[in-house]
Amino acid sequence: MRTGEVEVHASRGKNARPDDLAFIRDRRVGRLATADTQGQPSVVPVVYANFTLDDEPVIAIAIDEKPKGNLRALRRVRNIVERPEVALVIDEYHEDWDALAWVLVRGSASLIEPGDAGHAEALAALRQKYPQYVRMRLEERPAIVIRHLSTRSWRGAGLDHDEQPALRPGREELAALVRGRRSVRAFETRSVPRAIVEEAIAAAGWAPSPHGRQPWRFVVVESQERRDALADAMAETWRAQLRLDGQHESIVEARLEKSRDRLQRAPVLIVACLYLEGLDAYPDADRQHAEETMAIQSLGAAVQNLLLSLYAAGVDGGWMCAPLFCPEVVQAALGLDQTLDPHALIAIGYAASDPVRRPRLPLNELIVDWQ
Ligand SMILES: Cc1cc2nc3c(=O)[nH]c(=O)nc-3n(C[C@H](O)[C@H](O)[C@H](O)COP(=O)(O)O)c2cc1C
Repeated sequence: MRTGEVEVHASRGKNARPDDLAFIRDRRVGRLATADTQGQPSVVPVVYANFTLDDEPVIAIAIDEKPKGNLRALRRVRNIVERPEVALVIDEYHEDWDALAWVLVRGSASLIEPGDAGHAEALAALRQKYPQYVRMRLEERPAIVIRHLSTRSWRGAGLDHDEQPALRPGREELAALVRGRRSVRAFETRSVPRAIVEEAIAAAGWAPSPHGRQPWRFVVVESQERRDALADAMAETWRAQLRLDGQHESIVEARLEKSRDRLQRAPVLIVACLYLEGLDAYPDADRQHAEETMAIQSLGAAVQNLLLSLYAAGVDGGWMCAPLFCPEVVQAALGLDQTLDPHALIAIGYAASDPVRRPRLPLNELIVDWQ
């Protein structure tokens, strides 16, 4: 890389550039450097969240390890207590070196104790970013907060900062996820870690929605008992519907068996429900219908986020439309509130084999007009 191809931004004093803060916010891991009084350095990878505290941008880092002794014996904690100056590097690697980027943050770190000002805000920011923290008992632990931030950043020439002030996460990775996601209908029996399911549902929650009302809720079905109840109830309805279609009894039974098997084998089922409670109500049917259509469109966007998040974690999903044909049956089988309207069942797990993909329309068929 030649120096002519890079840009360097330096901000002095207590200024952290907004685009550097956006870069930091959109990344998930950094390397925290501390030093002891002798100047002996130490670097550890950390997850972090940046947020505003007392009108000042700050960065919070949880202390989530369980050291055998006192957590204050952790080197980074000892170092911070002895010497608050720290540096945190957040970087992005691409094979295309014109797209490389990093931000170096310097600041003053301290421990905030449970009950101290900023402790609750730090945990909230960390939990919003990392669902894994939701279930950890961080309330009883001190956290690290870095204040008086200044940033210095470096980005490859391929990124035009005037046009693109906040660097977006990797385009290539996104393309790989979007194209790689596939519908899987047969799974291995091994279970899916809870954190992966939580992260996927959190990703669903980031989908666009009408008026930002988030008209969706998710029900996770994992126990054998609930899975049986759901499979039995849906099979009954489907049996009646297939008979109504005049299907031969042997075909009816074979299709039911296949569907039941699918529900039984997937380690986790997620029922995506439409939730219209927060939506606007209109006096006329047309606008009311449009409002509900928007909510359904939005539910589809949420499910796609969920599937992409799962796929990124190595887990696949199979979208089943069955609940749409018997929402009350699903509500009754799972004991759901009337406000939850089951629209889709997503069976998730580790793929037993790679499915055959359906070909996609070429771009010139997708775009029907552009002038
Ligand atoms: C709204 C919707 C409902 C679907 N319902 C079912 C279903 O009931 N059973 C099924 O096997 N696949 C279902 N699918 C998955 C599609 O068959 C699948 O997405 C399509 O064949 C393309 O394959 P791919 O997802 O691997 O790209 C559904 C997909 C969507 C978007």
